Amino acid sequence: MARSAPRYVCTACGATHPKWAGRCDACGAWNTLEEEGARAGPGKAPSAGRAIALSTLDAEEAPAPRAASGIAELDRVLGGGLVPASAVLLAGDPGIGKSTLLLQAAARFAAGGLSTVYISGEEAAAQVRMRAKRLGLADAPVRLGAETALSDILATLEAERPGLAIIDSIQTMWTDAADSAPGSVGQVRAVAHQLTAFAKRRGTAIILVGHVTKEGQIAGPRVVEHMVDTVLHFEGERGHQFRILRGVKNRFGATDEIGVFEMTGSGLAEIGNPSELFLSERGQPAPGSVVFAGIEGSRPLLVELQALVAPTPQAQPRRTVVGWDGGRLAMILAVLEARCGIPFAGLDVYLNVAGGLKISEPAADLAVAAALLSAREGTPLAPETVVFGEISLSGALRPVSQTENRLKEARKLGFTSAILSEGGKSAPTGGLTLTRMGQLADLADETFGA
Ligand code: TYD
Ligand code: MG
Repeated sequence: MARSAPRYVCTACGATHPKWAGRCDACGAWNTLEEEGARAGPGKAPSAGRAIALSTLDAEEAPAPRAASGIAELDRVLGGGLVPASAVLLAGDPGIGKSTLLLQAAARFAAGGLSTVYISGEEAAAQVRMRAKRLGLADAPVRLGAETALSDILATLEAERPGLAIIDSIQTMWTDAADSAPGSVGQVRAVAHQLTAFAKRRGTAIILVGHVTKEGQIAGPRVVEHMVDTVLHFEGERGHQFRILRGVKNRFGATDEIGVFEMTGSGLAEIGNPSELFLSERGQPAPGSVVFAGIEGSRPLLVELQALVAPTPQAQPRRTVVGWDGGRLAMILAVLEARCGIPFAGLDVYLNVAGGLKISEPAADLAVAAALLSAREGTPLAPETVVFGEISLSGALRPVSQTENRLKEARKLGFTSAILSEGGKSAPTGGLTLTRMGQLADLADETFGA
């Protein structure tokens, strides 16, 4: 039988390569290329097809009713609830709390009338039951199975026709449709493919759990991201109780929403007002500490940025960032040096977003610059001040979106002043003292006298 040439797939990023190599060209990871099961080659002519019925774009169809779990932090990230016949991937590091979140969600969905099946391939049924008991969910009408053979799982789902099936995890499942080991690229793909096909065919919503793997021993969730409708990441820093659920792909909603949870002794608790939580660890005003008024999706979020600037004997000073983009930090340091004449050569720079949150908004630029200047000059920022604004390479400050929401949240949490960029829509200050600036140099001169 003719076989097509093998392909090699990176287990970290999903890129395909015609040849094996030690390092993936696409993502730079080492030892992650794996041969994908060579498929039976062409040879046979395809069978004749049947014409399908085509329709117009304006055909009337009622929007699918979404099933809400009642866990607001989850429903918002899903885009308002779970869409029938959709496939969702929940990806995250092992031990971050994926199984806990989904068991809690399963119980809520089931209690709300959605027939729910939970298939665990990682834990025995008794273990899952024990966890349910600990979470106070033992009497939820969730049906539980412990199984790893996909054919048996599909036969079960075919018989049960649940509204929701949770598969924990995709890497433990195996199918004889692929001849590689469970957890390999071929298996993970084949399993995800068959489960999403089942979802479309039978109208069952499917949630797949995927472990993120750094070592590349087993295939990462990346290889199935394009097959599913929605991809959610569950993140958190070790040693922090906060967990962030982030939508990174959603065919049925916005992708910039986050859900915030706290891991407690009795499972994940929703955090309806994350700003309070993220600011709760803030101590006395200190140099290098600045509160950024951010927006995550539809919700404002205040978070503390901490910078430390210290002289170093090293020729190459350190630049260490946690929770923000390292490239963006380098850019701000360059702008401070080139446009404001404030050098950071010979100084180590550390920047940390408190609480283990990751922020990606350019609006954080000005807050980062303020934290760096405050740390460098040893001058704390005026207390109860929030900062936001985007910095361009010229050193000019650009206005950012949703100024009003940011200010409103700051006021709600007892802040009295704000430093922000000029321009943009004027927003009611509601008693806040606003300092609007056009140039980064203004911040350096006026606020820190640098
Ligand atoms: P788990 O949901 O098993 O993680 P994952 O499925 O992502 O691998 O969560 C495991 C961690 O959560 C474990 O370290 C214990 C902790 N945990 C709590 O702190 N409280 C709880 O109520 C539960 C169920 C777990
Ligand atoms: Mg688990």
